[in-house]
Amino acid sequence: MAAEKPTILVTGGAGYIGSHAAIALQRGGYDVVILDNLVYGHRDIVETVLGVELVVGDTRDRPLLDDLFASRNIAAIMHFAAFAYVGESVENPAKYYDNNVVGTLTLLEAAIAVNIKKFVFSSTCATYGVPDTIPIPETHPQNPINPYGASKKMVERILQDFDTAYGLQSVTFRYFNAAGADPEGNLGEDHDPETHLIPLVLFAALGKRDNIAIFGTDYPTPDGTCIRDYIHVTDLASAHVLGLKYLLDGGESAIFNLGNGNGFSVRQVIETARRVTQREIVAVERDRRPGDPPQLVGSGEKAQKMLGWNPKYADLNDIIAHAWQWHQQRHG
Ligand SMILES: NC(=O)c1ccc[n+]([C@@H]2O[C@H](COP(=O)([O-])OP(=O)(O)OC[C@H]3O[C@@H](n4cnc5c(N)ncnc54)[C@H](O)[C@@H]3O)[C@@H](O)[C@H]2O)c1
Repeated sequence: MAAEKPTILVTGGAGYIGSHAAIALQRGGYDVVILDNLVYGHRDIVETVLGVELVVGDTRDRPLLDDLFASRNIAAIMHFAAFAYVGESVENPAKYYDNNVVGTLTLLEAAIAVNIKKFVFSSTCATYGVPDTIPIPETHPQNPINPYGASKKMVERILQDFDTAYGLQSVTFRYFNAAGADPEGNLGEDHDPETHLIPLVLFAALGKRDNIAIFGTDYPTPDGTCIRDYIHVTDLASAHVLGLKYLLDGGESAIFNLGNGNGFSVRQVIETARRVTQREIVAVERDRRPGDPPQLVGSGEKAQKMLGWNPKYADLNDIIAHAWQWHQQRHG
C-alpha cells in the first residue's frame, strides 16, 4: 500500500506566493489544504488550477482553526496569510499588527494545542530596514522602518520563543521582491490594489495604465533609481518545499534570506520589460517616496548551502517573460 502523503496547511494559499507554493507542494508529493479568508485571494485559482481543498476562514478565528485541526491530520503549516502593503501599514498600523501578529499568534497557539510543531513562515527583507551592507546577510541587524516590517519581525521573535518554550521548529524565509509567474502559465501575480513594479510595468505595456512612475532618479546608484533583488516566485516556492523537508527531517529552527544576490534598478526593469513585451511603456520621473532604501539585495547563500536551494530563474528576462505570459492571459 502507498504511504499516506503528509498534509500541509497553506495559509494564504489563494494568494500570489502561497498558490505557487501549493502547486510546488503537490508536485513534491504532499497533500495541501488551503486556509484563506479571500480578502485578497482568488477562489478560482484554488478551484480550477490547484484543485485542492479550500477552507474559507481567518487565521484569527480560533474555533475555526480548532475544527480544522481536529478534522484533518496536518503535518506542518506554511504560513503566507498576512497583509503586505507597506504604505497602508504606516497609515493603519493596527490593521497590520492585528492580522500579521495576532493572526499568527492565534494560529501558532492552535497548532501547539494539537502538537503541530513544524512551521514555515513568510518574513521579509523589510525587517532589515535601511541596510548597512549589500548583499544583506541573515545576520544583518533588523531595524524595520514601517509597521509591516515590524509586524514580521515580531513574529520572528514569537517563533524563537515558541521554539524555546514548546519545541516548535520553524523555518523563516525573508524574501526580497517576489516576481514572475509559474512558467507553466496557469498561476501568477494578481494583487488588487497592485503596488509591485513588474506587474505595474506590464499593465502599462497592456495599455491598462498610461505610464509607470519612477520614484526618485537621484539615488546613489549607477542610474539614480532604486535597486531591488527580484526573486522568481517558482524559486521561492521550491525553497519552501526544501525548508519543509528540512523540518520534517528533524532540522532545527533556521532563518534564510531568499534573494538572488544581484539587484536591478527601476530603469533596468522597465528597459527589460520593453524588450520582452515589444510594447511601448511610458515612464514618468517623480520625486522619491519616503522610506524607500536605495538598494535592497539579499544573499541567498545560506539557503543554497543548508537546504540545497538552487534558484532556476535568476535572469530578469525570464522573470519578466513569465510574468508577461501570465498577464496577457489574465488581464490581456
Ligand atoms: N510579494 C512579495 O514580494 C513579498 C515579499 C516579502 C514577503 N512577502 C510575504 O509573503 C506572504 C504572501 O505574499 P503575497 O504577495 O502572496 O500576498 P497575497 O496578498 O497575494 O497573499 C496573501 C493571502 O493571504 C490571505 N489572507 C490575508 N490575511 C488572512 C487571514 N487573516 N486569514 C486568512 N487568509 C488571509 C489573503 O486573502 C491572500 O490570499 C505575505 O506574508 C507577505 O508578507 C511577500
